[in-house]
Amino acid sequence: MKKALKIVLIIMAVAFIAIQFYRPSRTNPPVVAAETLESQMQIPQNVHEILRRSCYDCHSNETNWIWYSNIAPLSWGIVDHVNAGRDEMNFSKWAAFSPEKKSRKLEEICQEIESREMPHYQYLWLHWDANMSEQEIKTVCEWSKNEAAKIP
Ligand code: HEC
Repeated sequence: MKKALKIVLIIMAVAFIAIQFYRPSRTNPPVVAAETLESQMQIPQNVHEILRRSCYDCHSNETNWIWYSNIAPLSWGIVDHVNAGRDEMNFSKWAAFSPEKKSRKLEEICQEIESREMPHYQYLWLHWDANMSEQEIKTVCEWSKNEAAKIP
């Protein structure tokens, strides 16, 4: 019995080491100042700080890759997630959106935070500081609705 347990543990340890060799790359593509949200929109300091704190890890090319994003299998999920977030909306590539798309994204930002779909709850487990207060949600929504209305 004891021996069987030992073998299982050894197999698990070997498997854990083996999967470390598959490393999806954790990228931070260069940020071009003229393409960012900041350069394209009026964005007050307080709104900017909230977005940076709560959204930029997955919606920009300025991801702060947390240490455990280096460890498989966590790394696989995290890299996928950041790539999916960037695909959906990348604040570092805001200029690439058409006016319609900008306006739609701005509206979605408010919807996503009001319904507390964003930031993802799994992300909040280890990023307490990314949690948004009711007041912060209101502040961001007011800004995003205002900006959306400005787009012809
Ligand atoms: C941990 C990563 C992560 C964080 C942090 C995060 N997002 Fe996302 N976001 C995603 C991913 C992945 C998707 C695409 C798939 C999905 O909806 O889950 C997405 C999708 C979106 C969409 C498009 C939704 C749709 O249905 O089309 C919006 C808008 C959005 N996020 C806004 C935000 C805002 C605003 C914040 C900050 C308050 C934020 N996100 C924080 C990962 C993240």
